[in-house]
Amino acid sequence: MIRSVRKAVIPAAGLGTRVLPVSKAMPKEMLPIVDKPAIQYIVEEAVQSGITDILIITNRGKGIIEDHFDHAIELEERLAASGRDAELADIVKLSHMANIYFLRQKETKGLGHAVGCARSFVGDEPFAVLYGDDVILSDNPACGQLCRAYEQHGKGVVGIKEVSPDVIGKYCSLAVSPLSERTYSVTDMVEKPSPDKVMSLFSILGRCVLPPQIFDILDHTPPGAGNEIQLTDAMRELAVTEGMIGVDYIGKRYDMGNKLGILQANCEAALARDDLGPAFAEYLKALVQTL
Ligand code: UTP
Repeated sequence: MIRSVRKAVIPAAGLGTRVLPVSKAMPKEMLPIVDKPAIQYIVEEAVQSGITDILIITNRGKGIIEDHFDHAIELEERLAASGRDAELADIVKLSHMANIYFLRQKETKGLGHAVGCARSFVGDEPFAVLYGDDVILSDNPACGQLCRAYEQHGKGVVGIKEVSPDVIGKYCSLAVSPLSERTYSVTDMVEKPSPDKVMSLFSILGRCVLPPQIFDILDHTPPGAGNEIQLTDAMRELAVTEGMIGVDYIGKRYDMGNKLGILQANCEAALARDDLGPAFAEYLKALVQTL
């Protein structure tokens, strides 16, 4: 019987060297998109997808991620005393969204190593992985689209998108064949391919759902690109032996791990807001005239 997906892991222990200096003392996962930290969008997506238990993998200096999902007693008292009920409700809701657990990755040995740290949390169940610096905005939560594909096919699922030929070498490349609308069979993959190793322009962007067998594979996965234990290398073994499913999810993905991605996320999210959008659009139009 195929079990439904109720657990998720959010790796958020990376050093964020591409967004220095802001990430020196501040976790990049806490960078705001307008007024909400990136990781809150990701936790909300997981919860809207039916996930009840979330493990966030952190690192030294990332304690404020824990604080963000905890009660803030003084702040709550102040908001209550001044009758700011809507803000109070939002702040309190944050600490009750799901069962959120935290674990530190003691050494920054790569995304695959970070996911491997989740073994005892996950146990013998399928689980979702939501990369801590990839925010995906969609009316239909991307993580949920992958969970439903797992429940339908009973195989590991990767969230995929086509990227342009000039950037595929920075991502991973997948061997895919179409199954149904937006759904593909994935039989091979390679991390950061040189031009002669590119199999397609489809790459894994930000989300996957994995069976617990991935942990045994991660145990014997050697360091790969960048001398880090790559999740892609472990998923490749799954893809080659059992096959995986690729879902070209509906949703707009923002890479909060690079500076342009942060600006795009903030700009587009602000424009989409009822309270800020019209004034921000006016400001942008005037600004563009001066360029
Ligand atoms: P990245 O590939 O963006 O790596 O990680 P990074 O170290 O965070 O960033 P740069 O390249 O130095 O700028 C993708 C996701 O995996 C997490 C990161 O926090 C991010 O959410 N990660 C990465 C870990 O949890 N542990 C690691 O050892 C590496």
